[in-house]
Amino acid sequence: MPDTIYLDNAATTYPKPREVHDFMHEFYSTCGGSPERTGSGATGRIDQIVSQTRKMLCELFGGNDSKRLTFCYNASDAINQIVQGMLSPGDHVITSRLEHNSVLRPLYHKEQAGEIEVTYIPFDGAGFISPDDVKTSVRKNTKLVLLNHASNVTGAVQPIAETGKICREAGVYFAVDASQTAGAIKIDAREMNIDLIAFTGHKSLMGPVGIGGIYTGENIPISATRFGGTGVFSELRTHPEEFPYRLECGTLNILGVAGLYAGLNWLNKQGIEHIHAREMDLWDRLRQGLRATGSVIIYCADRRENHAPILSFNIPGLEAADAGAILNADYGIVCRTGLHCAPLVHEGIGTDKLYGAVRFSIGPFNTEEHIDRAISAVGEIAAMYTGNL
Ligand SMILES: Cc1ncc(COP(=O)(O)O)c(C=O)c1O
Repeated sequence: MPDTIYLDNAATTYPKPREVHDFMHEFYSTCGGSPERTGSGATGRIDQIVSQTRKMLCELFGGNDSKRLTFCYNASDAINQIVQGMLSPGDHVITSRLEHNSVLRPLYHKEQAGEIEVTYIPFDGAGFISPDDVKTSVRKNTKLVLLNHASNVTGAVQPIAETGKICREAGVYFAVDASQTAGAIKIDAREMNIDLIAFTGHKSLMGPVGIGGIYTGENIPISATRFGGTGVFSELRTHPEEFPYRLECGTLNILGVAGLYAGLNWLNKQGIEHIHAREMDLWDRLRQGLRATGSVIIYCADRRENHAPILSFNIPGLEAADAGAILNADYGIVCRTGLHCAPLVHEGIGTDKLYGAVRFSIGPFNTEEHIDRAISAVGEIAAMYTGNL
């Protein structure tokens, strides 16, 4: 089998930069103790890395108070905290049909329990929502608008700044799932009027799995959803209201934070915009190459502006899972097939009945050669199977 070509970076980026592995190893080998647990006397460097990472992320998200950058496990965990901590019985939420199950399921649970009402706005043929749909969906009891920044199926980057303006004018809170864009595409809480940004560390931020978080703006009424030790205010019977403690409990995943710290330093050295431009060059090459085969159906916009380097497609006559299995077994290409945890997107693009689509997603370590091999693999498979079903 040829060398593996990893084209599943929207699931998790791989490989991670050498610097991330090296820093995590060095950090965990030389630093003992739990952050902010006074009395251990050994946590100086740990506290410094944790607070520096909060600062770097806060800056990345256009925030102005790094204490409001809180850590949790991943984006799913962050979105659960937002949904549970922001919503009360009787509230209405606006979301979209482009969302990942990390958004949909926490909302469905509350909706099915009769606690909240939810409006699911549609997206157009190229994968974009319309801010006007958000505007016309606002009701008296609308508390929150919760949208992703980029779809993990179509790759379309949503009109977040326009939507943020509408939310601010309407007096509703705006939360963004930045899973596919944090560390890749600019997202600025201040400029875009975003109140809460949920992120995950293991995708474009180039960190390990098990670390993610939330940036929470000022005066956002988010309650703690879990309670416990914080290392400070131990005399209180209730969980502290202060940030970051309000949304964190128990010992922090300092190894994950260290990985994020190294990932952020690596990104800053390479230049986030430079990496994105290079990935989008590869995406353009992939899109044009797949189109030129004349035998695949592509589900993405026809232009690179407002796009993430994600491309979903199908080979007519072949189920996505089978195409993925052949790509993997015969060509060494790792990709993702199925519904991509975003079933409403597949309903919208008509691929739900086909058991989803094949998704290629590009990362910083992909090359033109990878893309050319992927195009020719798809072309060969299509030539063999098209019209078989
Ligand atoms: C748009 C979107 N939201 C949420 C998630 C969930 O991220 P995590 O698995 O890190 O919680 C993903 C991951 O695939 C995603 O693409």
